[in-house]
Amino acid sequence: MKITIEINISRVNMLELLPNGNVGEIGVAKGDFAELIIKHNNPKKLFLVDVWDNIEMSYSDSNMVDKNSQNKRYDYVLNKFSDYSSK
Ligand SMILES: C[S@@+](CC[C@H](N)C(=O)[O-])C[C@H]1O[C@@H](n2cnc3c(N)ncnc32)[C@H](O)[C@@H]1O
Repeated sequence: MKITIEINISRVNMLELLPNGNVGEIGVAKGDFAELIIKHNNPKKLFLVDVWDNIEMSYSDSNMVDKNSQNKRYDYVLNKFSDYSSK
């Protein structure tokens, strides 16, 4: 017997399930969702992980940008969250 359970939950609703301690996001891009994590969870520590590089993927989307654009995104994210870097 196969049972299918459908969970209809948005990413923002999901934030309510996160701990307020240490949180990590893998795949940060420009930090839009990271901003929401800070707003909704105010985590003690937030680890932001991204290659910020042009990599081969099996799919393409608007976040798959060239190396120069990824470098700019990295600098943008560093600056965007600079107030939090010492926390
Ligand atoms: C869809 S974007 C992330 C958007 C972001 N989570 C948000 O909602 O604002 C995907 C990101 O994942 C990164 N990425 C893809 N593969 C990765 C990997 N293997 N390790 C780390 N980052 C990766 C890409 O560089 C890209 O910035």
